[in-house]
Amino acid sequence: MRSLTLIATLATIATTTTGVLKGVAGHQDDHSMSPINLLASISKQPVNTTLFPEIQHPFPPQYADSEFSKNHIVPTNSWVSNLFYPSAENLAPTTPDPYILRIFDDYGGNPGLSIHQSDVKTFGSYPETNNVPPTEAGYMINNVVVDLRMTCNEWSRDAIQKEQQKPPKQSVTYWDHFSAHLKLYTPSQAEQYIRFPIVRGMAYVTADYHNLTPRFFTQHAIISLDVDGESQRIEDNAVYTGSKFKISMNDTPTSTFLIYALGNETLTLRKEGTSNLVSTNVYNGIIRVAKLPSDQDESTFDQFKDRWPVSADIQAESNGNSGTYSIQWHAEGKGDSSDLLLYAYPHHLETLLPINVKRTGIKLASATKGDMEAIKTTNNLVWVIAELKLNDISWLPTRAEADASAVHEIMEAMETDIAKDYANETLLTDNYFSGKGLQKFALLALILNQPDKTDLRNPEMAVQSLEKIKQAFIPYLENRQNDPFSYDHVYKGIVARAGLPKSMGGTGDINAAFGHSYYNDHHYHNGYLIVTAAIIHYLDPTWRSADLIEWTEALIRDVNTPVEDDPNFVSFRNWDWFAGHSWAGGIKVNGALDGRDQESVPEAVNFYWGVKLWGLATNNDAMSRLASLQLTIIKRTTYEYFWMLDNNKNRPKKMIKNKVVGIYFEQKTDYTTYFGRYVEFIHGIQQLPMTPMLADYIRIPEFVYQEWQQKLADIAPTVQTNWAGVLYLNYALIDPSDAFKKLRKAPMDDGQTRAYSLYITSTRPSFQRGIVLFIFTVLFTVDFLIDVNYCTILYLRFTCCQEPPRRR
Ligand SMILES: *[C@@H]1O[C@H](CO)[C@@H](O)[C@H](O)[C@H]1NC(C)=O
Ligand SMILES: *[C@@H]1O[C@H](CO)[C@@H](O)[C@H](O)[C@H]1NC(C)=O
Ligand SMILES: *[C@@H]1O[C@H](CO)[C@@H](O)[C@H](O)[C@H]1NC(C)=O
Repeated sequence: MRSLTLIATLATIATTTTGVLKGVAGHQDDHSMSPINLLASISKQPVNTTLFPEIQHPFPPQYADSEFSKNHIVPTNSWVSNLFYPSAENLAPTTPDPYILRIFDDYGGNPGLSIHQSDVKTFGSYPETNNVPPTEAGYMINNVVVDLRMTCNEWSRDAIQKEQQKPPKQSVTYWDHFSAHLKLYTPSQAEQYIRFPIVRGMAYVTADYHNLTPRFFTQHAIISLDVDGESQRIEDNAVYTGSKFKISMNDTPTSTFLIYALGNETLTLRKEGTSNLVSTNVYNGIIRVAKLPSDQDESTFDQFKDRWPVSADIQAESNGNSGTYSIQWHAEGKGDSSDLLLYAYPHHLETLLPINVKRTGIKLASATKGDMEAIKTTNNLVWVIAELKLNDISWLPTRAEADASAVHEIMEAMETDIAKDYANETLLTDNYFSGKGLQKFALLALILNQPDKTDLRNPEMAVQSLEKIKQAFIPYLENRQNDPFSYDHVYKGIVARAGLPKSMGGTGDINAAFGHSYYNDHHYHNGYLIVTAAIIHYLDPTWRSADLIEWTEALIRDVNTPVEDDPNFVSFRNWDWFAGHSWAGGIKVNGALDGRDQESVPEAVNFYWGVKLWGLATNNDAMSRLASLQLTIIKRTTYEYFWMLDNNKNRPKKMIKNKVVGIYFEQKTDYTTYFGRYVEFIHGIQQLPMTPMLADYIRIPEFVYQEWQQKLADIAPTVQTNWAGVLYLNYALIDPSDAFKKLRKAPMDDGQTRAYSLYITSTRPSFQRGIVLFIFTVLFTVDFLIDVNYCTILYLRFTCCQEPPRRR
């Protein structure tokens, strides 16, 4: 749904925010332009299936509604993806937050939709492992608990067995980036079902009952019960009638849930045992359940009970300097109230413009993103979220010229690097490591071919470096590499062949190629290839241009198609507009039991940097600005949830000490990696590939400094492997002069060259100028993440502006 009014509103905001920037920060920028829509089609071309042979994915979704899926592609890496498949004991969670949902899990009683609201996290320690010292908060998990399950009598296991009925089934009847509608139904009775509109940040779990007898089950015992505001005696088989029930349980700390029956009839519930409330009648209508954080919040939940979110869509705009993204919520309901209550994550609270929304102070813990706060959203139901300063990093470091004192050594290393056998390091068995090789050589061509900017002058090497990277790239451009890509018609994406069944030319091992064939890590793998393609096209726009555009844009569209109506690719496969970052985990055959996950922040950054570069190389403003906006959001969420500065607000102190969370899941954080538990692995995977985007933007000196002091300084000298090169190039961000000495000799990672490492190091502002300048750098890069509350600035501005036009 698109509304002209909204676009006009956004344009006003974008213009205003630019004004704010200019006025407040004195920021002048020659490329400030009028705002454009960022969610523009990249290409309308169908996929070239001569280039990428067609396949039908061997693991199709099982629960996608057949009607809805005719025109909607099933998402592979989304927070709703678990809804489409069975899982081990049906325990795979779906996490709209602040609620965690499980469907038909096996725990006691009738199957239904189980709700957990996880205020208390379990922290586990790790003993000393390899060179990782004992870790107090090694992992954090949400327990698998049924606080409350919404189900019905008709689905009791006894009834099913006795009457030889089929157990209830599930179907996903609608989905978008912020919601999915789950229908649980009796297979033999078409009119018996419960429909759940599951929506990001929903303050209540909403169920629409049809011809079924509601039943509520808790894993705890019910210890108190109020009906329509009256406290009741708790007795077995007692019967309670009303339209609002408030129950408290014997968990620790005691949790309290509200149940609102919003149908035409009241609800009569009988208490069965300590853990069940069972309706005496079939019920038709909406029932909503909410966790009550504290008694003083109850009137707010009463006030907002009549309207529930059902779906949402996204818009995004940018004038080049700032960007806004807006979530247009859609709601259903009854009564006069037209406002909605929704929970927001910490990073939303920093950037949500104070129009349409009001903070309530009501808080519940999210699964792994710290506390959420309930937001009153007024009746045009839009959240407008502004990033006032998009990053302006493009091809080269901000200070691009190599320090004169370093040029000689850089060029010596360069000679060795470009003399290498490129094919040996770029035509490997898999696309991930090949991509790392391609990008590292492409970066050499990039800095050699811009001598006026980099001061690295050698025309012969410049020509040679570009020629060699083109040659190395040809097999990929022609899809003749060792693990070629196919176009999958089921999920509409480009997958590697290795993980497909043997009958389809693969190895039969679904984990081959890191699970790329099952949609793991597409942004990582594609990112390296896209950066390479962008550099080649930028340096020589005429070289095989049509092929290069077709190939590269297919790999971009596979991950980051910005529109909903591209029949060839799913919209935003990896990017999550609500979470503010990407997910790497794709299809999991037994369910993603800890939810979606992402391990490496900077390899995700590398993808969006690549897209930005491709947008710049092809003069596609919408594409490059969208990537800039995504990178700006990534930076914000990285320091909220992934990399922990000493003053992080979302994690306990014992975990902040780790500095990075490790593998980040929807349901768990784990201070380790998928490939082993060494300090240099856990931290190093957050440091590569080093690029201008990482060096000058994402990895801020305060963080690099804290992490180095607390985690890496002692370990680095003991690392003898290629990880040494990664750690020392990261160290260059805070002490380039010392790092330069180390990088002369340190073994290099397979995605790293010595020449580029020395170059990046020599472009640091404090290179060879010592510690005083370093402190200066730290002080002056304390940036928007930490100190400046732009919402305050905007609030001042907006309170004296007119309210934007209302949407009708
Ligand atoms: C599709 O790819 C093939 C093989 O690379 C190429 O020969 C052909 O020109 C491409 N077709 C289109 C329409 O781009
Ligand atoms: C409730 O009553 C209204 C008005 O009589 C009717 O239109 C609606 O269908 C009823 N809802 C249910 C769920 O029975
Ligand atoms: C490729 O490079 C590796 C490491 O430098 C070397 O051991 C190997 O012999 C090379 N292989 C070929 C085919 O050149």
